[in-house]
Amino acid sequence: FFTGCGDNKGDSNQASASNESAKQTYTLKFSHVVSPNTPKGKAADYFEKRLEELTDGQIDVQVYPSSQLYKDNAVLKALKLDSVQMAAPSFSKFGKIVPQLALFDLPFLFKDIDHLHRVQDGEVGQALKDMVTAKGYKALSFWDNHFKQFSSSVKPVLMPEDAEGQKFRIMSSKVLEAQFKAVGANPQMMPFSEVYSGLQQGVIDAAENPISNIYTKKFHEVQKYLTISNHGYLGYLVVMSEKFWNSLTPDLQTKVQQAMNEATEKEREYAEALNKEQFNLIKEYAEKTGKLEIFELNQEQREAWKNAVSKIYPEFYDKDVIGKDLINKTLATE
Ligand code: LMR
Repeated sequence: FFTGCGDNKGDSNQASASNESAKQTYTLKFSHVVSPNTPKGKAADYFEKRLEELTDGQIDVQVYPSSQLYKDNAVLKALKLDSVQMAAPSFSKFGKIVPQLALFDLPFLFKDIDHLHRVQDGEVGQALKDMVTAKGYKALSFWDNHFKQFSSSVKPVLMPEDAEGQKFRIMSSKVLEAQFKAVGANPQMMPFSEVYSGLQQGVIDAAENPISNIYTKKFHEVQKYLTISNHGYLGYLVVMSEKFWNSLTPDLQTKVQQAMNEATEKEREYAEALNKEQFNLIKEYAEKTGKLEIFELNQEQREAWKNAVSKIYPEFYDKDVIGKDLINKTLATE
């Protein structure tokens, strides 16, 4: 069923050899792993609508949410083969291609979302996009989710010691592995699509995700404790198949950029709004069912976490993993 994009006439010899004035049409499949009602999901749908409008239907965008088309580990390979044309994997998922994107996984690196945006919109963001381009992808835009929160079914995660011995699901990221090892926890890599059943069946005890992912995948219903920790960030790089990008006329490329710029602006708004809204819904669930307790790190607990996990930064000073230069430039970004 999902057999790639043989219907894209943009790069077929037959179409380019003909003198027909009829416009070539393109199918752009956009694969992602989260629910439609998330910042990424809504922005992908917005991009679909906008690009179809701008191109008068010449590019037909088809969004596949919830890992329907590809799981997180497979999508970058599929993009390379042009079996799918667009994706927005979280930074951690680029580990095999551009490990330096794990910069964004470093805990307590960003003061707030504005600081993060200044880093993404500046020299560091550009350097990272260039690395992705050099690997044969069209790097389009950074998209937000939000800061991550701890959840557990064993005990509330308040001090670093509370994490000791707990099995935490992590994305495939060396930084996240180091973060949990630093506090004596047991990190387990697992694709996003398996987290709910992993938590439900007790294969893993605990996890970290932004509220929007927790709420839309119902992780809070299979955890007993949620801690508003904001200890690290989760966001995305939107990437396109290079082959697909190169098959577009300059005019269509401009339209893709325009739809992407507009979608990115919206995405940042969705991220703020949904993470707030869905936190309220989780609070309502907790009050109604009594099955979930919600905590928030106080200043002392936050400092304790910061001290315990910031120790890992030097492990990533080598430029083949992240690089001291990128880390320091991020810290120094005003
Ligand atoms: C995760 O695996 O937890 C996230 O990357 C999912 C996503 O795309 O937000």
